[in-house]
Amino acid sequence: MAKKLAIIYGTGFGNTGLMAKAIEEGAKAAGLDVLIKNVTDATLADVQNADAIAIGLATYKGAGMPGVIKYVESLAKVPLKNKVGTAFGSYGWSGEGPIVITKMLSGYGMIVLDPPLRIKRIPEEEGLEECRKLGKMIAERIKK
Ligand SMILES: Cc1cc2nc3c(=O)[nH]c(=O)nc-3n(C[C@H](O)[C@H](O)[C@H](O)COP(=O)(O)O)c2cc1C
Repeated sequence: MAKKLAIIYGTGFGNTGLMAKAIEEGAKAAGLDVLIKNVTDATLADVQNADAIAIGLATYKGAGMPGVIKYVESLAKVPLKNKVGTAFGSYGWSGEGPIVITKMLSGYGMIVLDPPLRIKRIPEEEGLEECRKLGKMIAERIKK
């Protein structure tokens, strides 16, 4: 059975959403089953059933989007040890969001791809290609 990746993201203007879709493309091309959800629709079961999770969030006012931070806090109840985890997000100048999530996922004992993928403002083709590569890297890391 194909390994599963859950991509859960929060986005204000769609930039982090574009990153999420490109990660999905790369992961699917590498043979993963992908679940992609805005955090507003995400449940704990979404990550429970996954072999890897990718958490996306934009940075506003020096912090990650609160809905995504709360969701990742709620994952403390889920056994995540040894699953693959990564964070990503669009930012303007400081980009704290994905850094904070990376620390949280490490704290849960996940195998974390660090540093997180951060793209300034609207991802152009080059940035989207980096996202596709990240999807592929996640697939390779699960298989190890
Ligand atoms: C009110 C406001 C506050 C922002 N604060 C920050 C910030 O503190 N640090 C930063 O890196 N970017 C900041 N940004 C820039 C956003 O992170 C950037 O526009 C990003 O592309 C938004 O991604 P999204 O479309 O996924 O929401 C801010 C943008 C707005 C509109």
